[in-house]
Amino acid sequence: MTKVRHVGVLTAGGDCPGLNAVIRAIVKSAVLDHGIRVTGFLDGFAGLLENRSREVGFDDVSNILNQGGTILGASNRDDPFRVPVPGPEGTLHEDRSDRVLETLERHRIDALITLGGDGTLSIADRLVRKGAPVVGVPKTIDNDLSETDVTFGFDSARAVATEAVDRLHTTAASHHRIMVVEVMGRNAGWIALEAGIAGGGDVILIPEIPFRYGQICEGILSRTRRGRRSSLVVVSEGAKSPDGKTVVQRMVEGSAEPVRLGGIGAVVANELESALPFEVRYVVLGHLQRGGAPTPLDRILGTRFGVAALQAAVDCAWGTMPAVRGERIVRASVKEAVARLKLVDPKGEQVATARSVGVVFGDEAA
Ligand code: F6P
Repeated sequence: MTKVRHVGVLTAGGDCPGLNAVIRAIVKSAVLDHGIRVTGFLDGFAGLLENRSREVGFDDVSNILNQGGTILGASNRDDPFRVPVPGPEGTLHEDRSDRVLETLERHRIDALITLGGDGTLSIADRLVRKGAPVVGVPKTIDNDLSETDVTFGFDSARAVATEAVDRLHTTAASHHRIMVVEVMGRNAGWIALEAGIAGGGDVILIPEIPFRYGQICEGILSRTRRGRRSSLVVVSEGAKSPDGKTVVQRMVEGSAEPVRLGGIGAVVANELESALPFEVRYVVLGHLQRGGAPTPLDRILGTRFGVAALQAAVDCAWGTMPAVRGERIVRASVKEAVARLKLVDPKGEQVATARSVGVVFGDEAA
């Protein structure tokens, strides 16, 4: 018999389609399979730092499988190991992680399940090293976590981005324009690469393949020579030129990942318009990629992850997270998952496939 009778759950980092599917699966499996109580901590780690929570029962998770967002609220700026404290000499940062342990103790939580990306799971890993009973669940639209083939949320974001590329093609073709669409993904190019392939993008710019404007222009002009009068450019928010410079939109104080990228779409559009005989327009998809209902794949993956995470909690497998390997769900190490980002391989099969169908990446190999 497990010693675990009461499980805590929180959703930290950015929201993401599929979070509610995971919460629902955790609660249903806890109640139906194990007779375990579940308490949700509100707004990510803020709920643990400020002792804000609510019990989540069977009825609370009814009809949430297809809902975007998270019924528990989320925050991507409450790192308990680095809480900003304003003072006369500016903002200092304090380690308040002891409060997290106190709150868990106060509620007699036997296991905490944290749903999040690399920032959240890094915090989870540090809490485990402090002795907290924590299990992770890998979430992110960016799909940049190691140790798992895929994270939930990615399929939904890729679907939104693909639909956007599809829709922009018609305007590009009608007006003989270049349309640039900026997608999310932080330092990983998965959304741009896969939505670009799925949507038939002509140019795909990703952080893993630094680009030169001359190469992009050459690629577009060679399309023109073949009679194409419009082009579709998919640019990842973290795409960079060879000097390594990214376009930063803002810094977020107190976030485990303070840099917010954004703006490269406009920069690329301006550069292309001044260098080429085409009108150029750009669109930034932004948070549209994180909102709304999860795809069937993310609902299924979220459900599988939720059940597997609850089982890991029951088994006291602290510091682990469910992960996808091929067809199977396995238990992976959170520490390993956050040790390095899972990036697109510039020499990998997906990039080679895209090149074979004429995609321009803006590098020397183009
Ligand atoms: O990590 C998910 C993500 O949506 C990134 O793709 C993006 O760079 C970032 O979060 C945006 O964060 P925020 O919601 O704080 O603007």
